[in-house]
Amino acid sequence: MEIIYNPGFLVECINKITQEGSAKVGFVPTMGALHNGHLSLARKARQENDICVVSVFVNPTQFNDKNDFKTYPRSVDNDLKMLQDEGVDVVFIPHEKNVYPTRKLHKLDLGGIDKTMEGEFRPGHFDGVADVVYRLINMVKPDRAYFGNKDFQQLKVIETMVKNENLDVEIIGVPIVREPDGLAMSSRNQRLNRKERKEAASIYKILKQAADVYASFSPDQLKSEIERHLNNTNLLECEYVEIVQEDDLKLVRKWKKGCKMRICVAVWCGNVRLIDNYRIVTYKNYDDSIK
Ligand code: PAJ
Repeated sequence: MEIIYNPGFLVECINKITQEGSAKVGFVPTMGALHNGHLSLARKARQENDICVVSVFVNPTQFNDKNDFKTYPRSVDNDLKMLQDEGVDVVFIPHEKNVYPTRKLHKLDLGGIDKTMEGEFRPGHFDGVADVVYRLINMVKPDRAYFGNKDFQQLKVIETMVKNENLDVEIIGVPIVREPDGLAMSSRNQRLNRKERKEAASIYKILKQAADVYASFSPDQLKSEIERHLNNTNLLECEYVEIVQEDDLKLVRKWKKGCKMRICVAVWCGNVRLIDNYRIVTYKNYDDSIK
C-alpha cells in the first residue's frame, strides 16, 4: 500500500501502479476515523476497479461549527492499518495547504438540492463538501468515486455537481452499514457515552417502524409521529424529519406507488449530532434491496 502526502506525487504513483494508465481507478474520499461503513466503500471500489485510492482529509471548509472540526475524531495510524488489511492500493493524505492553495471556494452548481435538510441546518456545509470533492477528484482523476447512502443528501449533491460541472467520473452509491443494534456506523458515534450510545439505536428502530406502517398515515402525519417518538426518548432530540423522493430530494406530499422515497432525519444525542435515513418500500419498488 502506497501512502502519498503530496498531490504532485499522486498521479505519478497511480500511473506506476497501473503501468500504462489504462487501468480503472476507484476512489473513496473520507475524513478518516474509519469504520466498516468506510471499508465497505473501499471493498466495492476494489471489486469494481483495478486500483483503489482512499483519501483521508478532515476538510475544514465543511464544518459550520469550529468545535465540531476541533473535536472530530482523528486516528490515522489505525486508519492505515484498516486500509492495509482491506487491500487498498493507495492512501492519499494531503496537507491542508495543498488542498487549499487559496481558500477561495469554487462556485459550483449544486442545483438547489443543497438547500434543504442538512443545507438548512448547516449553512455552507455542502459548499465545502462539493468544493473539496471537486478538488480531490481533479487530483486523483478516478473513473469511479464511491459515496455512502448514509449521507444520502451528500450523495445527491455530489451527483448533481458532477453532472453540472461535466466531470468525467461515475458516482456510485453504497448501502448503509449498521451496528448489530441498527445504529448507522459513523465516526461521530465514538463521541457518545454509554447511555447515549444505547439510546442512539432507537433512531433506526423508529425509522424502520415508521417505514413499515407508512401507508396508515399521510406523509405529514408520519413525520409528526417520527418526531414525537424520537422526542419521547430520554436523550434524543429531533432536529428535522423529512420524507423525500430519492431521485431529486423533493419533499413527498402524497404517497406515490413506485416512487422511491426516503425518510431522512438529523437527531441530537447529547451534544452529538447524528443523521440517518431509511427507504420507504412501496409495492412497486419492494424488490429493490438497496438500503
Ligand atoms: P466521512 O464522513 O468520513 O464519510 C466518507 C464516506 O463514507 C461518505 O461517502 C459516507 O457517506 C460514507 N459512510 C460513512 N458512514 C457510512 C455507513 N455507515 N455506511 C455506508 N457508508 C458510510 O462524508 C465525508 O466523510 C465527507 O463529507 C467527504 C465526502 C469525505 C468530503 O470531505
